[in-house]
Amino acid sequence: MKAIVILPLLTAISAAVSLSAADVDVSKLPPAATKTGLTFDKDIKPIFEKSCVKCHGAEKQKGKLRLDTLEASLKGGENGESIVKGNSAKSPLVHTIARLDPDSAMPPDGKGDPLTKEQIGIVRAWIDQGAK
Ligand code: HEC
Repeated sequence: MKAIVILPLLTAISAAVSLSAADVDVSKLPPAATKTGLTFDKDIKPIFEKSCVKCHGAEKQKGKLRLDTLEASLKGGENGESIVKGNSAKSPLVHTIARLDPDSAMPPDGKGDPLTKEQIGIVRAWIDQGAK
């Protein structure tokens, strides 16, 4: 008899877990920019410096993440790598800036202007091109 009660319960719990943070709808991502030859220092650093480094730089490392150098950005934070070289759609950092999951949107709500579609497109293209 017990199994009849427990089984649907377990199914409900696992469904709830799979709908949590990591599960985002990547079809909602703005498209990658068509620009080529993108580099961290030339194209990405200015975006991160304006919107991210006050919380992810030399002074503060929220989520144990620094975004002020290429090496640190590729290293990731407390949840591991946030940039998957060559695959922006799978990169957690892209999910955060595109605000796919409101709980992990970056910059956090009220803590800075959201990035524009164009900026997100540049970050995506840079990652897709290998995050150099
Ligand atoms: C006002 C502070 C603030 C700003 C600005 C900010 N973040 Fe964050 N970020 C946080 C905090 C706090 C966390 C820790 C997780 C949480 O509490 O949501 C975090 C976590 C993250 C993580 C997850 C790291 C991990 O491994 O868990 C990523 C990726 C990230 N931020 C990217 C960015 C990017 C990209 C920008 C700029 C577009 C940005 N953040 C701007 C506060 C900030």
